[in-house]
Amino acid sequence: MAYIEMKNSYKRYHTGDTEIVANRDVNFEIEKGELVIVLGSSGAGKSTVLNILGGMDTNDEGQVWIDGTNISNFTSHQRTNYRRDDVGFVFQFYNLVSNLTAKENVELASEIVADALDPEQVLKDVGLGHRLNNFPAQLSGGEQQRVSIARAVAKNPKILLCDEPTGALDYQTGKQVLKILQDMSRKKGATVIIVTHNASLAPIADRVIQMHDASVKSVVLNPQPQDIDDLEY
Ligand SMILES: Nc1ncnc2c1ncn2[C@@H]1O[C@H](COP(=O)(O)OP(=O)(O)O)[C@@H](O)[C@H]1O
Ligand SMILES: [Mg+2]
Repeated sequence: MAYIEMKNSYKRYHTGDTEIVANRDVNFEIEKGELVIVLGSSGAGKSTVLNILGGMDTNDEGQVWIDGTNISNFTSHQRTNYRRDDVGFVFQFYNLVSNLTAKENVELASEIVADALDPEQVLKDVGLGHRLNNFPAQLSGGEQQRVSIARAVAKNPKILLCDEPTGALDYQTGKQVLKILQDMSRKKGATVIIVTHNASLAPIADRVIQMHDASVKSVVLNPQPQDIDDLEY
């Protein structure tokens, strides 16, 4: 069995008497340590997949296996523990606490888990060793996103889930952030899943899951993913 497996997963949203099928019979596998890109246009169902994998949302049908456990059977209490202990999230707009320093933002996450990494070390790993005591407003967008990656990574999670992590960043800064995420997978063995609508990022991933209209259209393995430094998009 693969490290992560989504099997015949469905998610429907109801607003009034209209039903939106956000995920229809979604199937894929992900191996431990992979850098995965979930690709698709707006509304394709990508964030829904990510939120279900991260225990922020639940599916209506189907199985979601994470490291041998089917989390779709979890009670809400189990799901809370899973979210806290096993999942790191990175969002498009960082979601840092504005009156806490970079280091304090990371400590906030590391303090809630048992086997956390050292916040200072993780901030050094993302190139922010000199910014530990700065507040978010004193940091550039790219630096704020690196703090949010450090915050997610400090929990030493089983999976690192990133929803449009470069969506608010300029080209060069976006590349720096992607480089950090690729290094997390290559050098630290982290399983990293990036949702994006930008098809030109596909070459950097070990595995590309293409979504269209609520379903998985294709899954492609890159035997030799491109280094971010060589990527032009
Ligand atoms: N909480 C929600 N309530 C109602 N509809 C939703 C909700 N979340 C997502 N949807 C709908 O589900 C579909 C897939 O959304 P989403 O997974 O966010 O797509 P993507 O991330 O690929 O843009 C869209 O049609 C969206 O409007
Ligand atoms: Mg989305």
